[in-house]
Amino acid sequence: MDFSIKAFDTKNTIQGAKTGCIAVGVFENKKLSAQAKALDQGGEITAALKAGDISGKPGSTLLLRGVSKAGAERVLLVGLGADEAVGEKAFLSGVNAVMKAFGQIGAADGIIALPMENLKERDVNWAIRACVIAGHEAVFRTDAQKSKKDPAPQGVKKVMLAVPNTAATKLALAQAEAIANGMDLTKELGNLSANVCTPTYLADTAKRLGKEFGFEVEVLERKQMEALKMGSLLSVTNGSEQPPKFIVIKHKGGKPKDAPVVLVGKGITFDTGGISIKPGANMDEMKYDMCGAGSVLGTFRAIGEMGLKLNVIGIVAACENMPSGRATKPGDIVTSMNGLTIEILNTDAEGRLILCDALTYAERFNPAAVVDIATLTGACIVALGHHNSGLFTREDDQHEALANELLAAGKQANDTAWRLPVQDIYNEQLKSNFADLANIGTPGGASVTAACFLENFTRKYTWAHLDIAGTAWKSGGSKGATGRPVPLLATFLMNRAR
Ligand code: BES
Ligand code: MN
Ligand code: ZN
Repeated sequence: MDFSIKAFDTKNTIQGAKTGCIAVGVFENKKLSAQAKALDQGGEITAALKAGDISGKPGSTLLLRGVSKAGAERVLLVGLGADEAVGEKAFLSGVNAVMKAFGQIGAADGIIALPMENLKERDVNWAIRACVIAGHEAVFRTDAQKSKKDPAPQGVKKVMLAVPNTAATKLALAQAEAIANGMDLTKELGNLSANVCTPTYLADTAKRLGKEFGFEVEVLERKQMEALKMGSLLSVTNGSEQPPKFIVIKHKGGKPKDAPVVLVGKGITFDTGGISIKPGANMDEMKYDMCGAGSVLGTFRAIGEMGLKLNVIGIVAACENMPSGRATKPGDIVTSMNGLTIEILNTDAEGRLILCDALTYAERFNPAAVVDIATLTGACIVALGHHNSGLFTREDDQHEALANELLAAGKQANDTAWRLPVQDIYNEQLKSNFADLANIGTPGGASVTAACFLENFTRKYTWAHLDIAGTAWKSGGSKGATGRPVPLLATFLMNRAR
């Protein structure tokens, strides 16, 4: 789907627009949006509303042909809720319905002429982004590993957004495309099977992005990780035949002296649980356990395409968690890169074991902030379901500020997070008789103890942790990666850029 801006004015009117299909909004109170009114000189739209052919409820649609005073071949009426004060949810339902309808009609091009400039609490740039992301979602296919490809998306290929053609809207469109492309990459990586999407594959993807967008990419091999004394990370890869990769990717968009934001991604390309092996049901889904890494790479794709003016460093710790004769055993004690010893009571709590060394590695960059992103705990799905990512930070002023920045970015991007605690008291649960720390807590609050475990390795900088176990993918019939939290992360970084 190809997006562009189509500005209307007194010469170039909405009535005159020649296109396969133009989408306009109507309301439950039977009123027409300004754009719908402009096309209704012949009364067909009012008649359809009066007859009850469309309810106006958010996401309801009605396709009309032969609207006499419209240059467009088809007019798609889209319900946007109760009245002219269109909220974000109603708008998003409307846009998704437009994309669905656009995919089912025989038109090559279409115009979205919804009231994007008059939304409640949202501006036109937000609306542009919502359209582009919904469009990408509608045509996204996962058929890389199918011998017969899914049918190509039908319908509208060229979508024009009826908004003023200004420097700001052009920029918003370019940024929206960059974010949507980043999300697509994250989805592709998450959906690929684990025998293809290995740590090596993630490293190669980072290198390919480096070539395409000018990132500096360094991949540390096992030997280098050993030299760095990443004993915790390396304990997770013991059972695997796949070589682990520690990927460092740098986007130098800021001033050379500006402290970077560091994103750290959990890249477990398959999580069997190790010797503390997981039950068989749905274990296939543990190929998604690299979605933290995938979202770091997707976010880099987005900021690279945007040419974001900010220094950003991505760190991806990638390996497999497998059982074998060489695998780490429950009770094994390892020494992490920062010197703390860890008793591995459960080899399935492996995410924190790779992240802690990656977080220690991040110290060398004197970061402005570090955000780790991980499918860390099933308990986070229990707590928040699939709607919100779990956000964890300490409670002092500078961490409150970072938490608020991330929460706000999530709201702005329709990719929300919800805050959960990081408090000293939970460290009690991580005490070990034999080592400095245990890698699991006592029952209860498993997402929080996981975050508190990580906290022990992040005391030298401002840090936040995002648990995306629930948001990174959907289970069930339409299972697949969602591309989250790329919108949140990209927006957070955009808000920090020059
Ligand atoms: N990758 C899992 C977390 C997970 C579970 C993500 C389900 C998505 C869906 C993680 O490595 C894990 O196994 N966590 C354990 C922690 C426990 C052993 C303390 C869990 O959540 O059960
Ligand atoms: Mn696990
Ligand atoms: Zn895991």
